[in-house]
Amino acid sequence: MSKKILITGGAGFIGSHVVRLIVNKYHEYEVYNIDLLTYAGNLENLTDIENRSNYTFIKGDITDEVFIRKLFRKYKFDSVIHLAAESHVDRSISDPLAFAKTNILGTMVLLNAFKELWQDKWENKLFYHISTDEVYGTLGETGLFTETTSYDPNSPYSASKASSDHFVRAYGETYGLPYVISNCSNNYGGNQFPEKLIPLFINNIIKNKALPVYGDGKYTRDWLYVVDHAIAIDLIFHKGKNEETYNIGGFNEWQNINLIKLLCLQMDEKLGRDKGESEKLITYVKDRPGHDLRYAIDASKISKELGWKPSVTFEEGLSKTIDWYLDNEGWMKRIVSGEYEKYYKKQYK
Ligand code: NAD
Ligand code: TYD
Repeated sequence: MSKKILITGGAGFIGSHVVRLIVNKYHEYEVYNIDLLTYAGNLENLTDIENRSNYTFIKGDITDEVFIRKLFRKYKFDSVIHLAAESHVDRSISDPLAFAKTNILGTMVLLNAFKELWQDKWENKLFYHISTDEVYGTLGETGLFTETTSYDPNSPYSASKASSDHFVRAYGETYGLPYVISNCSNNYGGNQFPEKLIPLFINNIIKNKALPVYGDGKYTRDWLYVVDHAIAIDLIFHKGKNEETYNIGGFNEWQNINLIKLLCLQMDEKLGRDKGESEKLITYVKDRPGHDLRYAIDASKISKELGWKPSVTFEEGLSKTIDWYLDNEGWMKRIVSGEYEKYYKKQYK
């Protein structure tokens, strides 16, 4: 069956992988990608599929109510895959209001336009909201986040995502709007903006710049290769049950400092440096305020119900990721000029 899908934030990191997968796999679907092209949005992420006949890019702001309403009336999207967001915790600490606007208001504007367009004609319609494991707050040394873990967000980023998740559920309960939500752990891979740990450190290693480790480096994250997240999103979009939440994770916990040491080793090898060379760049810096100690996902529901599991080990995924950044130095060069420089100086002064 054909579909008319609106993907939001498709020029960003995860969004571009999702757009690529859906456009390449489902030739009969019409895929519309709306993105404001903020500092994090980059059409260079999609050059390989930009001329496909089943793909249309629309530059626009999800918080612009009038524009979004018109867009829904014009194209009559039957499904939404919503990824557009402000996504970086450190930026949410310096500018929390921007996160409330895009992540909460933007989600509501989309929900409202979708509700107004279809009223009660909900058959074969779906609003798929992409969220994060950070809504659950922090774990101690043990335990895993499940789909029933209570929300307990600690950063303005995670609070804004938690709020958007609640609004999606509320529209389901109140108006019968069909939805599904997934909460994923930390992603890594090609096309990620170099403000997040892995691409920032890859870029700094190449340039022989300090690697700024927050606090004691003993914070733990559960890492998933971005292509595996896109595959999970495709599965949930097609097979997920209405009004359900699915946790997605890599079964792959790493303390930051151990991950950084592995990254340094792989980089030494690929750059032909002596073993231990890149590790010398590690510099401990002031901790992030409200830094969550540990995230870890129990992904058994998506695994049992939909048959999903990660396709690569972390060592393989990390190696592919480094190769992507080494093969795409022009991409990085164009990003780290201008605004990025100002951000970097302010964040790591
Ligand atoms: P990203 O910052 O790389 O991309 C976000 C995209 O949204 C950008 O292209 C940006 O231009 C666009 N955007 C921002 N504001 C907009 C607006 N007002 N209107 C239209 N477009 C706008 O983020 P990402 O890492 O790809 O994350 C995508 C989604 O996945 C987010 O909802 C995020 O919360 C969620 N998520 C991310 C991770 C992760 O590790 N990166 C993990 C779990 C969930
Ligand atoms: P990040 O990639 O920002 O993702 P998140 O905060 O959403 O988990 O950070 C991953 C981990 O790496 C987190 O514990 C913070 C830490 N970190 C550093 O130690 N130094 C850095 O420069 C950055 C960006 C992150």
